[in-house]
Amino acid sequence: MTTLQTEFTEEELLLDAPVSAPLIARHTGGEVRCHGGFDEGGTYVSPRMRFRGPGIVAWQEKHREDFGEEPMDIPLDTWPAHFPTVEQARYLLDNEVIEPLSATLTRIGTVEGFGANIRLLQPGDMQAHFDESIKGTAIDHLGRGLFEAHGRDEAGWEEEAGHKDMWFAARDVAFEKPTANIDIEAMLARMGFGQPGSPGGLDLERALPDDIDVNLELIANLMIRVLLIEVQAFHTFAWAEDWLADPELVAGDGDAARLVSYIRADETPHVAYLATAITEMRDRTWIGEGGKRHAGTDMVGRLWDALLEQSLGDGRVQTRKAIQGEVDHWCSRHQRGDEVLEQFHALATPGV
Ligand SMILES: [Fe+2]
Ligand SMILES: [Fe+2]
Repeated sequence: MTTLQTEFTEEELLLDAPVSAPLIARHTGGEVRCHGGFDEGGTYVSPRMRFRGPGIVAWQEKHREDFGEEPMDIPLDTWPAHFPTVEQARYLLDNEVIEPLSATLTRIGTVEGFGANIRLLQPGDMQAHFDESIKGTAIDHLGRGLFEAHGRDEAGWEEEAGHKDMWFAARDVAFEKPTANIDIEAMLARMGFGQPGSPGGLDLERALPDDIDVNLELIANLMIRVLLIEVQAFHTFAWAEDWLADPELVAGDGDAARLVSYIRADETPHVAYLATAITEMRDRTWIGEGGKRHAGTDMVGRLWDALLEQSLGDGRVQTRKAIQGEVDHWCSRHQRGDEVLEQFHALATPGV
């Protein structure tokens, strides 16, 4: 049996590891105090990791011991690379069509902010839904610190900016705060963003048997959806870090790319706790109303297959369309826009 600590209070899971310097993003419009910080050696330390980090390691270890299974791993190459490609992004910047890139950073930040909705989930007594004990698991800590820590990482907490404002800061560092010239509301509306809506959508279409608690399905559904987005985001980080690091293309001497690399570091525990908790659910027996037993592999499998198909299919098509729309929109406002757009398409990588 693992000797590692597997039970934590909510307060513990929200506690920062010690840092010796804060993370502050500076651009021409001012400075932004961000979450996280740096240790004495100058290495970036993600926020709220004092106990959350060791907790994830311990829950994974416990799962291996109890079930003989590894936490699930979702390969990044499940998804094609980012659209537009690095080459296309560099081409737009070279030709001074910066708004689609700036708009994309705004869109990513906005989506990160919506990610905080995960903290609105109310897991309640999760033990009631599972046959096997959930003592000392990630499942048992979802509503007691893990969702809240995740929400704070995405949207910020108190005076410290989270990912939403860190992406906006990266944009303002790179483009020296030109956003005053861009109507952000109009851009978001063009890209299909209305109001953030409910967490996971209360309009949930049931994929699981009727006797499975609807709140449990809503939680598992949103966790899988967020996990797929979080893994896929590593394509976006690699893409953004590439051109944001180039002082010939953007301002800030690489500061914007460094900021994105810190956000990327913070995403690792998100992927890890979600994958761990979903694995714990998958390997347990689910209890429906009236006591009927269901295999977790079947329950998680049904949700997983449907959501992965959506992520690779419709979801992708819609995002791609929104980004292309933004490129079209801004090219049409530039001299030589037609020529730039034509070359943009010529640079496309098949399948991306
Ligand atoms: Fe994030
Ligand atoms: Fe995240």
